[in-house]
Amino acid sequence: MSILITGGAGYIGSHTCVELLSAGYDIVVIDNYSNSCNESLERVKKISGKEFSYYECDIRNKEGLDKIFKEHNIEAVIHFAGLKAVGESCQKPLEYYDNNIGGTIALVEVMRNNGCKKMVFSSSATVYGEENQVPFIETMKTGTTTNPYGTTKLYIENILKDIYAADNEWSIVLLRYFNPVGAHISGLIGEAPSFPNNLMPYISQVAVGKREFLSVFGNNYPTPDGTGVRDYIHVVDLALGHVKAIDFALPRTGVEIFNLGTGNGTSVLGLVKAFEEATGVPVPYKIVEPRAGDVAYSYANAQKALDILGWKAERDVTKMCEDTWRWQKNNPNGYNS
Ligand code: NAD
Ligand code: WQD
Repeated sequence: MSILITGGAGYIGSHTCVELLSAGYDIVVIDNYSNSCNESLERVKKISGKEFSYYECDIRNKEGLDKIFKEHNIEAVIHFAGLKAVGESCQKPLEYYDNNIGGTIALVEVMRNNGCKKMVFSSSATVYGEENQVPFIETMKTGTTTNPYGTTKLYIENILKDIYAADNEWSIVLLRYFNPVGAHISGLIGEAPSFPNNLMPYISQVAVGKREFLSVFGNNYPTPDGTGVRDYIHVVDLALGHVKAIDFALPRTGVEIFNLGTGNGTSVLGLVKAFEEATGVPVPYKIVEPRAGDVAYSYANAQKALDILGWKAERDVTKMCEDTWRWQKNNPNGYNS
């Protein structure tokens, strides 16, 4: 029996592959490499010392997916595959709806046709929207999303809930990630964006000399230092959360939602300072206009994952910065270095 990992060559997927292999799971990976390459998977093999099959396959390709289901005994799917750039999603909403929602529908259809009804899905804290107050808790009503990317996550959550309502043989776990950062301690795998849209990759690209300075998006938020506060979570803790989620999903049916965050908030300037202290490398910055759609605060209530999954984030902000820096320094151009 294997776990199929969609989007497994990507940032969170590759780290999750390492932790699943280390926990003794057999895995099969598919990815269309639209935002990754198979070098990350070769490095997963190197880190884990284990073999597994991987395929270049788009989740919208039902025939290709079906073939993979027929070749392997797939027990459950961890579904990472998707486009994730917030700004790009405003320019290309159709592509985002087609890839993320259309892709999920195709995948779920092939799963059902092959009698596989267990899925762990990568959702996002963005579904809490602008209306809810921190700390975000799973029982809150979802909010209004501010971009097509966020809307795809909200719709997919609702689609998966409807699928369970119609057929309660399904076991679905919706994981709402907060702000994943960091890299595997080996420095062999990490986040490799060609253009950094998120804060930590931007900081590390400034530190390594690829960008001149960080633009801090606004310092007039109602937060202690005026900059936005987020719940940064080490990607290895996040990966370990997936192992717990799959352990949980396999013997059950139902739909469960879990926040995967630390429960702690760090401001933009707080993260810059932590990075400088952890690495000894200066990160010049300039304060610029706020970015549209940003909220002042986002952090999790992380109690449910602890109570039910027995999972808690263990790695602090210093560790997140040290591990990001090791990866960035050793791979200044990502997997092309
Ligand atoms: P990523 O881009 O590194 O990984 C996603 C992977 O999916 C990539 O390897 C990409 O090539 C692949 N992919 C995209 N569309 C595909 C398709 N149609 N068929 C097959 N493969 C496809 O991103 P990530 O940061 O690892 O994110 C993984 C998941 O977690 C995504 O669904 C993302 O939306 C979600 N998520 C990410 C964050 C974050 O900040 N990184 C936060 C919340 C949720
Ligand atoms: C963090 C803070 C910015 C870049 C996004 C998505 C969310 C999820 C995680 C996928 C904010 C500030 C940033 C920069 C800055 N992704 N910032 N200068 O916006 O919390 O969440 O990634 O699911 O859906 O919206 O993360 O890293 O972009 O920003 O000042 O160059 O850093 O304003 O306060 P965000 P982020």
